[in-house]
Formats: sequence, C-alpha cells, structure tokens
Amino acid sequence: MSSTTSRRGFVKSAALAGLGLSILPSGIVFSKNKDRKARLGFIGVGLRGQHHLQLALQRDDVEVLAICDVQQRMIDMSKDLIKKSGKRMPLVIMEGPYGYRRLLENKDIDAVIISTPWKWHAEMCIDSMNAKKYVGCEVMVGTTVEECWQVVHAAERTGMPLMMLENVCYRRDVMAVLNMVRQNLFGEIVHVQGGYQHDLREVKFNDGKQPYGGGVEFGEGAFSEAQWRTQHSVHRDGDLYPTHGIGPVAMMIDINRGNRFTELVSYSSKARGLHDFIVKRGGENHPNAKVKFKLGDVVTTMLKCANGETALLQHDTNLPRPYSLGFRVQGTEGLWMDINNGIYLEGKSKKPHEWDNAQEWLDKYDHPLWKKYGNDASGAGHGGMDWFVMHAFVEAVKRKIPTPQDVYDAVTWSVITPLSESSIHLGGETVEFPDFTQGKWMHRKNEFALNDDY
Ligand SMILES: NC(=O)c1ccc[n+]([C@@H]2O[C@H](COP(=O)([O-])OP(=O)(O)OC[C@H]3O[C@@H](n4cnc5c(N)ncnc54)[C@H](O)[C@@H]3O)[C@@H](O)[C@H]2O)c1
Repeated sequence: MSSTTSRRGFVKSAALAGLGLSILPSGIVFSKNKDRKARLGFIGVGLRGQHHLQLALQRDDVEVLAICDVQQRMIDMSKDLIKKSGKRMPLVIMEGPYGYRRLLENKDIDAVIISTPWKWHAEMCIDSMNAKKYVGCEVMVGTTVEECWQVVHAAERTGMPLMMLENVCYRRDVMAVLNMVRQNLFGEIVHVQGGYQHDLREVKFNDGKQPYGGGVEFGEGAFSEAQWRTQHSVHRDGDLYPTHGIGPVAMMIDINRGNRFTELVSYSSKARGLHDFIVKRGGENHPNAKVKFKLGDVVTTMLKCANGETALLQHDTNLPRPYSLGFRVQGTEGLWMDINNGIYLEGKSKKPHEWDNAQEWLDKYDHPLWKKYGNDASGAGHGGMDWFVMHAFVEAVKRKIPTPQDVYDAVTWSVITPLSESSIHLGGETVEFPDFTQGKWMHRKNEFALNDDY
C-alpha cells in the first residue's frame, strides 16, 4: 500500500472513530451503537428455529420482522409463540422453498437466523449475505468442500458477517476451561477431544398432537429432524455432526488465529445400531427394516494442527448410550475430561495421580460472561448456552461489529464432514485440510469471549 493511500485510510478511520464508527478491511462501516434494536427475520421455524424465536421474543432489544417456513404446522406453532409473547405479529411467509428470498427483500431486516435442514444452509447463507444481511446460521454452513468455499467467498465479497450459531462454545464448563487454558493452568495444550455422542435412534412421531415419541419412521411421515436428518445416515458415511465437538476446543487452541488444522483422517465402524433398533421396535417386517444404512455407528476422526496439537472427534448417534460430548483438553500440566467430571493438574490437584472433582475448579474459574449473565441465561435451552449464542449474535448485529465466531470458524468446523467422508471413502487416507483464511490465520488474534459484554 502506498503511503498516500495508507494515510488517506488513517485519516478516514480517525474521522469515523470520532463518530463512534470503524471500518473493516472489507469496507463495511461498523458502528458501536449498542442501544439500537436488532431487527431479525427467521428462515426455518421448525423446532430449533422456534427455540431461537422464543429467545428473541424475550429480548427488548430485538424486533422480529418476519418468519418463513414451508410447513403450516411449524408456522402455526411459531405464531402461537408470538401471540403468547404479546409482541406484534411479524410478516409470515409460506411461499415454497424459495419464499425466503421475499424475506430477504425486506430492507428493514438487519439479520437472519437460518434454522433449516443442512442441505439449505449454504445457499441461504449466500443469498442472505448478498442481500446485505448479517447471518446467524444453525450448524453447519456447508455440506461439501465446494459449498464451504462459496460461503467464504460470499462473505469476503459482501463484507457481511456470518456466525454459525455454535452454542456449545458457550457451555458453562467449556467456558470455564477456556478461561483456565488462557491462564495456563493446563500448561501448553498438546491434545484435545470432543464429539457428538447422542443416541438419536428414536425419531419423532407425526401424530398431529404430540410431537415427541419413540418411533422408527423417518422421511415424509415423520416430524421435525426425522423428516430429513435420518436420511443422511442412509447414504453418507462420515462425521455428520462435528461442530459441537470441535468448536469449543478449536477456540482453546487458537484455530484460524495463530494455528490451523492441516490434515484429517477418519475411520468408521460397521453400521448396526439403526437396523437393530428398527427390528426391535417395529419388527422384522417393518418397511424400514429393509433399509441399508451406510453411516458407521462410531466414526472416529483425527486432526493434526500447524502448531503440533492433535484433535480427536467421535460421532456416535446410532447405538444405545447416554449423552456426552466427550471433551478432553490436555496439556503439559494436566487435563480436563467431562465424561468423569474430572480435572487433574500436576502439583495442584489434591493427590498425585488422582482426579479432582472438576466442579471445584470450574466454579473457581467460572467465565466472567457466565458470572455476569448466568441469571439471564437460566432456563434457556441446553443449560443456558443457547441464550449466550443468541445474545452474542444480537449484540454484534446491534453494534454492527464483527460476530465473535466468524465465517472462517463456520466453514472450518463444517468442512470436517465432507473431509471425513472423503477419508473414509478412500479407505482411511489422510486428506489435506483447506486453509479458508488463505494465510490470514497467521496474523489473526483470538478475541473470542474476551470482552465484558458478549
Ligand atoms: N445447536 C443445536 O443445539 C441444535 C439443536 C437442534 C437442531 N440444530 C440444527 O438446527 C437446524 C434445524 O433443525 P430442527 O431440529 O429445527 O429441524 P426441523 O425439521 O424441526 O426444522 C427445520 C425447518 O425448516 C423448514 N424448511 C425446510 N426447507 C425450508 C425452506 N426452503 N425454506 C424455509 N423453511 C424450510 C422445515 O419446514 C422445518 O420447519 C439443523 O441444522 C440442526 O442441525 C441445532
């Protein structure tokens, strides 16, 4: 950059700073005004979308301007929530699969929350950024490597911030451990683990009244996720849901901010769980007993990092098991594991070679944001972390500042799925991990959850 250009840039930035505004490399002007309202549109108001809608309706700093879906039942459930909240009924759009584009035409909408099935996310994110909306998208933002690149290019071209609403980054124990990592309690981090270990065999009924119940139906006759999610287990084999496991630990090892994933390898076990479940519940003659499931019951993925750490992820959704994300964060001074709620810190734990109850440490190192907002978050979904992810997004929209998790996080965590599919397809070959930041990871700073407000 010539000195004239950089001086001109400096003068402009200084003038904007005087007005409470700042400018990003993309050219987008950010204001720090936190007192305005965030005006949101909701694309997809199924069970997850309704959950976000409810959180948004509870906030005085949010106006819901439009909701959009393709199913009457989900629209009706959402309208009930809005009526109960006492807030104004927004524009309701149900105009087929591309009806959301009408929502995007509304210039008053600052931001969209996308909670549709996975196959829609990349296209909806790109359309929304092109329409100059902030994007909060449910996990994950792309189902192929190509889609992930398209999302990055759209974000870079439009300058619009995109946040994948990865709520587990805000789980209370995870944030306390992040705090401990930053205070060097575990020493230099060497290895991290996480995953999605959740028995999802029991799908939801569509009996018109009771949305939950143990069934073996999936596809059109089912309800909510069972309409589309189970189908992925029929024709895909890979880590289908990596972001809850990888997001939190990626923040602890500065991925895309001084570190990056360089390669990945995945193996999958045999597929038995879903078939066994269908036969047990529905009998051998149930039509779904004939379905051949491709997804291995336990998919194990290893990632290598530029700074030498390893990360292990497990996807385990089709066997009987209690829920656990299976976190482990391990460094030269000790480790945390969530499965046994244990922490061991050499020279600091009560006894050598014995676990301390992690809770004592987690309470001591409770993250400042949880100390500040724990009461506001209580009662919100998934132990309160859903409140935090919505809060962080809304604060960014209101202040017109970058979101705390950005587009590079979103694609890096999402792309694990297609990469693990490739690795498994190639018989366990190591595949290269794309650098979506194109070198910027070397200079970016990790500022996640480091300010007082969000
Ligand atoms: N972060 C979490 O803890 C968490 C929890 C549950 C679900 N999720 C994610 O949320 C997303 C949605 O899951 P869900 O459980 O709400 O599923 P769901 O099936 O209940 O909801 C999806 C909704 O999208 C609607 N839809 C489909 N195509 C559409 C289109 N073209 N335009 C507008 N609406 C459309 C459907 O009619 C449905 O109402 C998924 O990505 C899922 O993985 C995340």
